[in-house]
Amino acid sequence: MTTVVIGARGAVGRHVVEGLLAGGEHVRASVRNLATADFPAAVEVVQADLADPDSITRALAGADRLFLYAPEKGAAGVAETIRRAGTGHVVVLSSGSVLLPWAVAGNAIAAEHDEMERALAGCAPRVTPIRPLVLAGNALNWARSIRRDRTVELVHPESRSAPVHEADIAAIAVAALTGSAAADPSGLLTGPEVLTQRRQAELIGEALGEPIHVEEIDEHRAREKFGAAGDPATVDAILAFIARNRRDGESPATPVAREVLGREPLSFARWARDHVGDFR
Ligand SMILES: NC(=O)c1ccc[n+]([C@@H]2O[C@H](COP(=O)([O-])OP(=O)(O)OC[C@H]3O[C@@H](n4cnc5c(N)ncnc54)[C@H](OP(=O)(O)O)[C@@H]3O)[C@@H](O)[C@H]2O)c1
Repeated sequence: MTTVVIGARGAVGRHVVEGLLAGGEHVRASVRNLATADFPAAVEVVQADLADPDSITRALAGADRLFLYAPEKGAAGVAETIRRAGTGHVVVLSSGSVLLPWAVAGNAIAAEHDEMERALAGCAPRVTPIRPLVLAGNALNWARSIRRDRTVELVHPESRSAPVHEADIAAIAVAALTGSAAADPSGLLTGPEVLTQRRQAELIGEALGEPIHVEEIDEHRAREKFGAAGDPATVDAILAFIARNRRDGESPATPVAREVLGREPLSFARWARDHVGDFR
């Protein structure tokens, strides 16, 4: 059995490769630029870009299973390429926002993932979306100012969510690919506990052994900060999500990871310890 991992250097993809290897699976890892490949010797490496159908066809030749990141554009074309390749099972990293009715109706990130899931549905005999709601890795956006002066600017610091560790997202993808999931791996995937952004910053401080100063900013300033990183619709979607999560219960902690993996999901405190080097 060969499993292709597209985005094998990504935060989640890297753990998917490790998880498959640990289970004795044959892994074909793809990167867009071969010069960036740094995988264990057992991994077969290929060049592939979701925007280049021929490269995807080559990557999928003879493969049984595929893990991929949500294609940012052209999901229908990607689906057609996968269908022609005859891949048996596709696991795609989507977003839990597709399961929030209010988000799909008016949130660009959710709408994009919803459209992508619809485009990929039916491209293989089995298609399994993995749907994390909030990645713990979002806190890496705070790394530069924390490294600089142990400060983080937060809009709505009391906004709360249950961030999920990328290693758990990957473990669920691996369970889906290998058929070892003990429950539906497509449920709303979160970390084990709901935490305010302020508490997340505090936990990063605890991992560092130094307190982090939180500076509250208004939406105008946040828009200026996020604006550099994304298009206006994406910035609107992120801000609306953060603002909505000031209310209790909007971004819950679900039992999905525990049920699928049969163990406790990794905490945010653990994520902070795993990434302490990014904040030092
Ligand atoms: N932020 C959130 O709270 C949130 C919530 C739900 C879902 N998500 C999803 O989570 C994903 C981010 O996960 P992550 O942190 O693991 O991402 P990441 O570390 O940035 O990795 C992204 C990977 O995707 C690959 N990639 C990007 N464009 C590609 C293309 N055109 N063709 C082939 N490969 C391509 C990159 O490959 P190279 O190595 O070749 O560069 C890289 O390995 C996003 O796609 C988002 O949809 C995020």
